[in-house]
Amino acid sequence: MVVPAQEAGEAYGPGGVTERVRQLVDQICTADHAYYVLDAPILSDADYDALMRELKALEAQHPDLILPNSPTQRVPGEPVSDFVKVSHLEPLLSLGNVTSEEEVRRFDQRVTALLGQSPSYHCEPKFDGLSIALVYRDGRLSVAATRGDGFTGENVTANVRTIRSIPLVLNGDAPPVLQIRGEVIMERAAFLALNEALVAAGEAPKANPRNAAAGSLRQLDARITASRPLRFFAYHAYSPSGLPVATQTELMDLLRQWGLPVSLHDRFAPDVDAALAYCREMADIRHTYPFDTDGVVIKVDSLAAQTELGTVGREPRWAVAFKYPPEEAYTILKNITVQVGRTGVLTPVGELEPVTVGGVLVSRATLHNAREIARKDLRIGDTVVIRRAGEVIPEVVTAVTERRTGDERIWEMPTTCPACGAPVRQIEGEVAIRCSNSPQRCPAQLAQGIEHFASRDCLNIEGLGPAVIEQLLANQLIRSPLDLYTLTKEQLLPLPRFGERSAEKLLANIANSRQADLARVIDALGIPQVGHETAQLLAGAFGSLDRLANASEDELSSLEGIGPSVSASISRFFADPDNQALVKGLRELGMGGPAETAQATPTDGKLQGLSFVITGTLSQPRRYYEELIEKAGGRVADAVSSKINYLIYGEAAGSKLAKAHKLGIPVLNEAGFFELIGQPAPGLAREDRRA
Ligand code: IVH
Repeated sequence: MVVPAQEAGEAYGPGGVTERVRQLVDQICTADHAYYVLDAPILSDADYDALMRELKALEAQHPDLILPNSPTQRVPGEPVSDFVKVSHLEPLLSLGNVTSEEEVRRFDQRVTALLGQSPSYHCEPKFDGLSIALVYRDGRLSVAATRGDGFTGENVTANVRTIRSIPLVLNGDAPPVLQIRGEVIMERAAFLALNEALVAAGEAPKANPRNAAAGSLRQLDARITASRPLRFFAYHAYSPSGLPVATQTELMDLLRQWGLPVSLHDRFAPDVDAALAYCREMADIRHTYPFDTDGVVIKVDSLAAQTELGTVGREPRWAVAFKYPPEEAYTILKNITVQVGRTGVLTPVGELEPVTVGGVLVSRATLHNAREIARKDLRIGDTVVIRRAGEVIPEVVTAVTERRTGDERIWEMPTTCPACGAPVRQIEGEVAIRCSNSPQRCPAQLAQGIEHFASRDCLNIEGLGPAVIEQLLANQLIRSPLDLYTLTKEQLLPLPRFGERSAEKLLANIANSRQADLARVIDALGIPQVGHETAQLLAGAFGSLDRLANASEDELSSLEGIGPSVSASISRFFADPDNQALVKGLRELGMGGPAETAQATPTDGKLQGLSFVITGTLSQPRRYYEELIEKAGGRVADAVSSKINYLIYGEAAGSKLAKAHKLGIPVLNEAGFFELIGQPAPGLAREDRRA
């Protein structure tokens, strides 16, 4: 639970500043671990930011109190000119690959013959990223290095420190010298977003998430690494003084206890049949991961047997990589069409003769931009190789030029926007071709712009998804995000998806979105090249939408983290009269004001220090309860853990309710909640009015 500073005594409580700094570091590290390793957040963004701000302020006043595991120590310094080489404590071996069940059985037979008995195994996914070694000395991260040639790698410690799932200090007792080996990966969604940003900034897109992860880690300027969402999974450890475990299965638990992220689905397999069953199951499960895996690693479970089996060349005899078949297929590129994105970028899309790649029917693939099409010399009518880069994103790898008949057609980018007919333009320094109309005047940009405006990270208007937006646009009920705020129930009711209740709910959600903080409002504007993080940075720097809109390009680019291309894009956005009208309209709605006014909620303190999780369908939008709780000094968390005080549940509550029961956490229905805060329930109030 967040312990407010003022609770800790006069200035900073009995232990004084030292104690408060330790407390803050603990709270933030626990929250980081919950968010980045366990995937179960325990703090809201606002609470987290408040703790971080307090810690930074204290550390600035008392640099001697900066702890080695302080989250502020992840912030990188100046770029370096080259990477220094480092030797690994234990060589980073590679693995023998097999692609069939027979080969796995042969591996098992070899191992059985060498050991004189059949071994049990440990299985886990083979992460498709880049291998790194982390050296912890006395439990503290001291050096991180890339694999290199297996014996010597590059020192990327400053870069690795920015990866939030990697603990700077291990929990519990760790051997004095410890080398952890694992994989750095990038999730597919982050990879797509990165490629979009690279293309918009005139750079070449990365071929796949693995290259994106490798490129992001090997940056001389670690601030770039910090801006890329990388994840880490640990799978191996070595210590010169030995490890306090006897098997790989136990080692995985130990890694978990130390606070390192490990695979979700690792499994002990008593024999080769069980290992093969795991490979078959994982063939499906891996598709549910947000990141790529390209096989299963099967390891002899006993560490003593691993030592006995040893290594031949660069491959251990005790492990093997079972790789899934490559997901490639041939098909015909029937046509190239153009999609217009939210920021007006025209993206060519390959329309394919449908083909099954790795078990999924693929009929379209992004071709990124005109330059990529020219580079690959793709022509309409070509036979092409399709690959599912990772597991879901189909990619056209190359044209099979030997199969050309001469009837293929060279494609050209249209000179007008296919959605609104406005001329297209290319901004200097960018590869992307864009529609020259403002977002409000191009139907493609408008629909996606509103979708973005309402999305979870922006104004979080529940119930305003693509289908509803399409209806509102088709019925000409909205022409700009501003029109959302004047919608009426009478306008919504005739639409197919709406009844009394859903119309009221949507309108309430739209009305509530006016409370959104400044960063969300800036993000919602959909300024090209300005995502969630940049929006937060801008909100912090300018404090209001007006000040941001009036900032000069110089002022913008003087901010750390805002490059010339981003500042030019922001200036261009606010120079557009339609966008100026949007800003004015939002201001008139009371949005985008100084951050303090949007956030500050007077508290009557009834729920001070209590935290709640809300689940299931309640009579009012979720935000309604959140506001009541926050107003009374309480806090709303996302996940049920032993740290929360109450679960508020509505209809169709599921796993969260079950978990609360299991943990013995008090649960409240709606009536119980209103009793707790001493206020009549809104449903009852309505009844009263009617009576
Ligand atoms: S074990 C001696 N486990 O795959 C320990 N490797 O193709 C050998 N990899 O170089 C590594 N996921 O970079 C292991 N769960 C996993 C892995 C894994 C990915 C990588 C690793 C290795 C490569 C071999």
